[in-house]
Amino acid sequence: MKEKLLKKFGEIFGDTEGAQVYFAPGRVNLIGEHTDYNGGHVFPCALTIGTYAAARKRTDNRLRFYSMNFEQLGVIESSLEDLKPYKEADWTNYPKGVIWAFIQKGMQIPCGMDLLLNGNIPNGSGLSSSASVEVLTGFILREMFGFEVSNQDLALIGQFSENQFNGVNCGIMDQFAIAMGKAGHAIFLNTANLAYEYAPVRLEDAKIVIACSNKKRGLGDSKYNERRAECETALQQLQRLVDIKSLGELSEEEFETLEGVITDPVIIKRARHAVYENRRTIKAVEALKENRIEFFGKLMNNSHISLRDDYEVTGVELDTLVEEAWKVEGVIGSRMTGAGFGGCTVSIVKDKAIDTFIERVGTAYEQKIGYKADFYVVEIGGGPTVL
Ligand code: GLA
Repeated sequence: MKEKLLKKFGEIFGDTEGAQVYFAPGRVNLIGEHTDYNGGHVFPCALTIGTYAAARKRTDNRLRFYSMNFEQLGVIESSLEDLKPYKEADWTNYPKGVIWAFIQKGMQIPCGMDLLLNGNIPNGSGLSSSASVEVLTGFILREMFGFEVSNQDLALIGQFSENQFNGVNCGIMDQFAIAMGKAGHAIFLNTANLAYEYAPVRLEDAKIVIACSNKKRGLGDSKYNERRAECETALQQLQRLVDIKSLGELSEEEFETLEGVITDPVIIKRARHAVYENRRTIKAVEALKENRIEFFGKLMNNSHISLRDDYEVTGVELDTLVEEAWKVEGVIGSRMTGAGFGGCTVSIVKDKAIDTFIERVGTAYEQKIGYKADFYVVEIGGGPTVL
């Protein structure tokens, strides 16, 4: 990969002198969905697939970007004097946003750079290719200019750039999982205070399989922001009765006694998901630590049901992938992962059942939806690195 990137870098930017190669992973969330902006817990892990970059400093203030995933866009140019998001700037709004965020946080960027990217995260899959680019850019800036920022800071700066520069009101999960990734481990993160713990994922005779729906996402972001607003409404109404800062502070029982104060039944369902999903995540991590994988899988299934019926972010594509998966013997658990409205599912599948799983779920999906799903058997990898 390194040679391939440097070769292309030379072709696009003239030569490879001073260029360095970097990598940041993608992520998958095992459980704890739509809890990270509700002060709840999440349990994601970094993957061995991700985004590669070749980069070097320039002697002027220009920024030149090229992606091997979008070659038709050619070189997209900008400069340190013009750090604003433009529609035509396409994917380069992500690295630009991070450069802007570093400056906002008081760090001086002394010169421009040439940056070439090549990712092997399937496009639009919901495995956080944008957060991967953000953390990667922050990591490159740190290595290139010697800024004193921790990996956790890289996650926060990435999220800040996505919220403030790119206008997506995402939580901290994706950037955190990518910046703090550890091979073989998932990250049990309390998003209320960023306390975290690594939990080994020992699946012995099973693997993590991602099924990508290939559904084109349209209104995803606006629905995402709509769900956030619904949870905020629920919180405000509950605060009339209890002194809480987030839905993540409530147990299931507390919620059941208090929910009557929420006036709209739809908002009750949204809040119920946030509360129950948070508790499920805590239970799931306990189960994993005690090697109760079957129970972990059951909680994954319940997470999907809640996202389908109460949070309503699944849709026929993700429901088909998951419901077909549940029928296959050897599937320990299966659920949608990420924001929803398309994207992908995550399943834990016994080694001996993987071929049957891909065959059966793939065929049923294509018959019902009319186009194919893609399947990936993935490994849990580490955080950003210099190659
Ligand atoms: C997206 C966001 C995350 C998180 C998930 C849902 O991936 O970027 O912050 O909210 O959706 O769990």
